[in-house]
Parts: sequence; structure tokens; C-alpha cells
Amino acid sequence: MMQKNIFNNKQEVAEAFAKYLSEQIEKSETFHLALSGGSTPKILFEHLAKEYSDKIDWRKVHLYWGDERCVPPNDEDSNYGMTHAKLLQHVKIPESNIHRVLGENNPAEEADRYGKRIEWNLKLKNGRPVFDLIILGMGGDGHTASIFPHQMELMDASETCGVATHPDSGQKRITITGEVINAAKEIHFLVTGASKKPVLDEIFNKKGNYKSYPASYVKEAQWWLDEDAWEEGKTDL
Ligand code: 6PG
Repeated sequence: MMQKNIFNNKQEVAEAFAKYLSEQIEKSETFHLALSGGSTPKILFEHLAKEYSDKIDWRKVHLYWGDERCVPPNDEDSNYGMTHAKLLQHVKIPESNIHRVLGENNPAEEADRYGKRIEWNLKLKNGRPVFDLIILGMGGDGHTASIFPHQMELMDASETCGVATHPDSGQKRITITGEVINAAKEIHFLVTGASKKPVLDEIFNKKGNYKSYPASYVKEAQWWLDEDAWEEGKTDL
């Protein structure tokens, strides 16, 4: 079942999701959380750093990245680098709970290493590691994590992580695969801005090219949207 939570703007999306996330962490003993990259989660990370540094018991939280760009951590393109600047350096999370993708290493070797790390740390169900919660974004081309329309095979790959190639820049990426995404206890898309509306319309209404969008194959997800991305049925905070 697809649930949509729609808010007035990006800030409200970040605030509502941060509250939800903190409640889920509160209920757990250990919480294995996979983060998305790109621009949308920046507001969420800033809000978590500002409002939840003492409200969340970060000792419970283990952080992973659903995808990473194959660059060093201090590169401007690094999802880890962005998360460190916006969140990690502002909260008391044990270093050993931060499971960074070594974007500076050989992509194939790193995909293998990171996959094994995830399989080692997480409970397995039908041989698949189970995250407590995965945060996903969606590109204007319908990609999610770093599973792009030209590499749909990553949606049903047997490995936990794979190597992807950005269709325009050719940049190499490490990404968790579709089966691991769909094995998660909870999956939440944070998608904001008018540029995402055409693809959301196709996915939600199963029309146009929706079958060519990796994001269409994510099951049981909750969608956190601003009204620029999707108007129908706004949610009160
Ligand atoms: C990445 C992401 C990617 C992102 C989408 C949306 O590393 O780029 O994880 O999947 O979520 O590209 O990006 P924006 O939030 O910047 O629109």
C-alpha cells in the first residue's frame, strides 16, 4: 500500500519526518538506518542536528548509505561528506556506528566489502539483510538510490550492493540493490520540488513510462512530499 504524506514545503516535510524517525528510534533497542544522498535530505539532517541532538539516543543508531558516489569523503559530491557536515559532527553518535561507503576505493571491491558489512551487521530474512528503515530520494528520471533506468538489473540483483554508473556524468556509484530495499522493515521516500511532479504522476497513476522507473518497483513505501511535488490531499502536521 502506498501512503502519501504531503506538506506545504520542504521544511515541513523534514520536520514531520524527523519527528516520525525519532519516534521509531525511541521504540527500538538498535536501529539500522540507511540514508539517502543528494540535496533533499540536507534539510532533514540540519533539522535533526538542531532539534534532535539530545532527543534521540544516537548510541542506538547505526548509519549506512543507500548509495554513495565513488569519490573521497572530503569531495563535494560525497554523500558521507554532506551528512558529516550537516548531521554527524553535531550529534553524539559513536564512530563505530557510522558505516561509511569507502567511495575512494575500487568500486567493485567496495560494493563487495560494503555488502558483506551490511550482511554481517543486519538480521537476514530469506538471505536478505533487513534494515529497520531506509530513506530514499528519487531523481527526475525515476532513479532511486543509485539504481538508474539504464541499469534496472540492479533492482533484482542477488548481491546486497552493486556498482552503478550515472547516465549523464558517468560517475561510478555504490548502491544497495532493489531486493535489499524491498526487504526493509520500513521504506520512506523524501521527494520535494516541482521537477519531480511529472514522474510522480506517472508512478502514482501507473501511466506513461512508469515501468521504466526504478522507483516504481519499490514496494510498501511511504512518500513524504511537498505540495510543489504533489498537491492532492495535504497532511496536517
Ligand atoms: C544520490 C541519491 C539519489 C538522490 C536523487 C534525488 O546520491 O544522488 O541518493 O538517489 O536521492 O538523485 O536527488 P535530489 O534530492 O538532489 O533531488
